Amino acid sequence: MRRFFLILGIVFLCFSIVVPTALAKKKPIRIRFSHVVAENTPKGWAANEFARRVNNALKGKVRVQVFPNSQLYDDNQAIEALSAGFIEMVAPSSAKFVGSVPQLQIFDQPFLFSSPEVCHKVIDGPIGQEIFGMLKKRGLKALAFWDNGFKHFTNNVRPLIKPEDFKGIKFRIMSSDVLEAQMKILGAVGLKLPFAEVYNALEQGVVDGQENTASNIYSKKFHEVQKYMTISNHGYIGYLVTTSERFWNKLPDDIRTELEAILKQVTIEERKKALELNESQMAKIKEYAKTSGRLQIYTLNQEEKAVMRKALEPVHKATPDIIPLRWIEEIYKMK
Ligand code: LMR
Repeated sequence: MRRFFLILGIVFLCFSIVVPTALAKKKPIRIRFSHVVAENTPKGWAANEFARRVNNALKGKVRVQVFPNSQLYDDNQAIEALSAGFIEMVAPSSAKFVGSVPQLQIFDQPFLFSSPEVCHKVIDGPIGQEIFGMLKKRGLKALAFWDNGFKHFTNNVRPLIKPEDFKGIKFRIMSSDVLEAQMKILGAVGLKLPFAEVYNALEQGVVDGQENTASNIYSKKFHEVQKYMTISNHGYIGYLVTTSERFWNKLPDDIRTELEAILKQVTIEERKKALELNESQMAKIKEYAKTSGRLQIYTLNQEEKAVMRKALEPVHKATPDIIPLRWIEEIYKMK
């Protein structure tokens, strides 16, 4: 009888070790990818595409879930949520790293980058290396750099053609001190608000205007609550696809390699898609302006752009305690 209970005990012990281990092995690694924009935007498209490809290629091993439109966290909360382990991936615009790596505001500088390629060169070069080091110190790991595109101004007060036109206008800006300096130099006021609050703020007159890419304006219908739009291409929005060092380092090597390969391919396609989407959605905004008669669009010509650029140049060196001046000089040389 004693032997029977001994065997029963051993069987039970084995069962209690083996079964949960086997079950645990089956549970896929979960990647919750949180972002703030709509799905019909460059980032929205790329996040979904990354999820689709990972969920196919690593079926049963990894499961990516995308939460768009600030469903889980707004821009001010996302990086903290990532660090706390509540989510595993984010792709905030560089401005949103103001609380962790404020040097990333280099990408908010007006008229500093002549094309997305210059931004890629910066992030792929020595400045990028320094930035990745700063992120690492914060426990963050940048995996890729995705494009959105160049921003334009919209507002409800007057057409914005000359720097003087900005005087007294209240703009929603991303949470960036560089953008705050940009508005100040123009005599305007910059109010930092999360992306999810922009439409209501414009509609209710909390702010008069905002600056964004065509895809962000179109997908969130900002143009429907604005009277004037200036096609200015004055500043750039790009994204750092980011995870936490803790999550990334815990992944098995083969999974990490596969995720990197998929991300690399999606990044190549995302950059093309960003150009396409911004172009097609700008055309839709123009169509809306024509058919509704409620939006006036003005495109700055080369001379007007040069005047605006000159007025905004002091912003480049207005925050030397945040953005090293040698970085600015370095980027001037790339032009
Ligand atoms: C914004 O806040 O306007 C943008 O950063 C949103 C985004 O992620 O493109």
